[in-house]
Amino acid sequence: MTEQKSNNTFSLTTPLYYVNDVPHIGSAYTTMAADAIARFQRLQGKEVLFITGTDEHGQKIQRTAEEKGLSPQEQCDKVAASFDNLWQKLNIQYDRFSRTTAERHEAIVKEFFQRVWENDDIYLAQKQGWYCVSCEEFKEERELVNDGYCPIHINKKAEWRDEENYFFRLSKYQSKLESLYENHPDFIQPSSRRKEVLNFVKQGLQDFSISRVNLDWGIEVPPDPKHTIYVWFDALLGYVTALVDPEQDPTLENALSRWWPMNLHLIGKDILRFHAVYWPAMLMSAGVTPPKKVFGHGFLTKDGQKMGKSLGNTLDPIALLDRYGADAVRYYFLREIEFGQDGDFNETRFVNVLNADLANDFGNLLNRTLKMAKKYCGNQVPNVKAKDIPADNPLKAIGVDLNDRVTEAYHNLSFSQACKAIINLVSTSNKYIDEQAPWSLYKQGEQTQVEIVLYSILESIRLSAYLLSPITPTLSTEIYQQLGFTIDFNQPSCFNQETFFKTHQSWGILPPLQALGEAKPVFLRLELPEENPL
Ligand code: MSP
Repeated sequence: MTEQKSNNTFSLTTPLYYVNDVPHIGSAYTTMAADAIARFQRLQGKEVLFITGTDEHGQKIQRTAEEKGLSPQEQCDKVAASFDNLWQKLNIQYDRFSRTTAERHEAIVKEFFQRVWENDDIYLAQKQGWYCVSCEEFKEERELVNDGYCPIHINKKAEWRDEENYFFRLSKYQSKLESLYENHPDFIQPSSRRKEVLNFVKQGLQDFSISRVNLDWGIEVPPDPKHTIYVWFDALLGYVTALVDPEQDPTLENALSRWWPMNLHLIGKDILRFHAVYWPAMLMSAGVTPPKKVFGHGFLTKDGQKMGKSLGNTLDPIALLDRYGADAVRYYFLREIEFGQDGDFNETRFVNVLNADLANDFGNLLNRTLKMAKKYCGNQVPNVKAKDIPADNPLKAIGVDLNDRVTEAYHNLSFSQACKAIINLVSTSNKYIDEQAPWSLYKQGEQTQVEIVLYSILESIRLSAYLLSPITPTLSTEIYQQLGFTIDFNQPSCFNQETFFKTHQSWGILPPLQALGEAKPVFLRLELPEENPL
C-alpha cells in the first residue's frame, strides 16, 4: 500500500448523508463547520480535499422509495440533488460529492471486502437481535425504550431479526484499537467523546454483522451474492472512493496514494462508534492506516426542544437560508454554539446575535470609518506606517497576536472562540473611535492623530474580515472590496493563497494611500418577522 501524504495537504469529510428525506439542519450544521475548516486550511496555503456526499443503500432507503412509489435509484437521485442545492445556498465549496451508488464505489467496496476476507476477518454466523431501520443498526435489548422503541428514533419500533449474516471480527482488534487511542490521544475529539469511546471499548468488543439477506438495495457480497453488504460497511468506504481522481481507475491503490490518511472526519456524536471503533478496525484489517482525527460534534435543539418530524418542530435549512442568507446562518451556528457541545436554535436569539455582532459592531464601524476617511483623508487609506503606531495603541496591542489566537482556535475547531476573539477587536475598535473622536481631532487640526486613529481602525476591520472569512466569506469579501482590495474569498484561485496568507494574517499590512471603495452597508440589520416564525 502506498500512502504518501504530503504535509501541505488537508483532506476532510462530512458524513455521507442518508437520502431517505430532504436535508435537515443537523446535516447543514456538520457541513458548514467542515466548509469553514476547508476554507481556513486553504487560506493557510494548504491543498485541500473536502468531501461530502450521500449514503444511498440499505433498507431505510429501499423502504422510503417503496412508500413513495419510486425506484430506489430515483429516490436517491432526487434527494442527492436536494443536498447539492442546499450546499449551493449555504455557500459550501466541497471538492468531491461521493455517492455510494456510483459504479466506482462498488469496485472499491468489493476490493476492500476481498482484502478483509483474505485476512480471515469475515465469517458466516447466525445473527439474532433488534434492528432499528432508521439507525441502520442493531440495538441491545436494554437500550430500547417504551417497550421496544429505538432510543434515538422514539417513534420507530425496533424489528426482530434472525438470519444468517457475515460478521467482521472486530474482537480481534481490541488491543490494536486501544493502542491507537493511547498513542494518538487526538484521534477522537473532543475529549468527552474520547472517554465515551474508551469506556465502550473497555467493555469488550463484539464482532458485528456486515451483510444482510433479503435486501436487494446494496452491493453484493463478492463470494456470496445472496447477501448484500451492510450499509455502514459500504458507506464508510465512500470516503475512500471519493479520493480517486475522476480520470483514474477505481482501485484502492489509486484512492490511497495522495490524500490518505484523511486528516479529519467531522461527524455528529450519534455516529461516533462507527467512525472511531468500527472504521479504524476495518482499515487495519485491510492494511490501511486509520484517519488522523474523528471529531464528534453535539446535537442541535430548537427553542430548547429536541427536534423531530413527529414533534413537528424541525427547522428547515432552506427556509432559514432564504430568510437570512448564508453568512448569517453560518455565523450563528458557529459563533453561538461551542463546537462539540449541544446547542440551540432560537430565532429571536439568532436575530439578536447577528444584529449585535455583524450589523452594529462590524458593519456600522466600517461604514462610519469609511465615511470619515472620505472626509478627512481623501477616500484613501491614511498615509500611516503601521510600524510607527505605538505598541500601546489598543488596537495594535490586540491585533499583533490575534492571528495566532484565532489560528489556534480554528485548529482546535473552536469556531466560537475564534469568532469571539475577532469580535473583541471589532468592539475595541468601536470604543476606540468613540474615545478618540476623530471628528473633534480633525476640527482641532490634529491631522496626524486623525490618520493614526483611522488607519488603526481600518486595519483592524481588515484583519477581522480576513480571519472571519472561513465563516462569513461573502461579508469578508464585501469588506475587503470597500477597503480597496480586489480579493474575493469565494474565489480562492484568484489569489496566491500562500503569499496572501503570509501577508494578510498580520496586523499592519493595509497599504497606505490605497484608494478606498464606496461605503455601503455590508450587513443590514435583521428584523424578526411578526408572522411565520421558523
Ligand atoms: N449515513 C450516515 C452517515 C454515514 S457516514 C459514512 C448518517 N447519515 S444521517 O443523514 O442520518 O446523519 C448525518 C449527520 O447529521 C450525523 O452526523 C448526525 O450526527 C447529524 N445530525 C442528525 N441530527 C442532528 C441534530 N439534531 N443536530 C446536529 N446534528 C445532527 O448517519
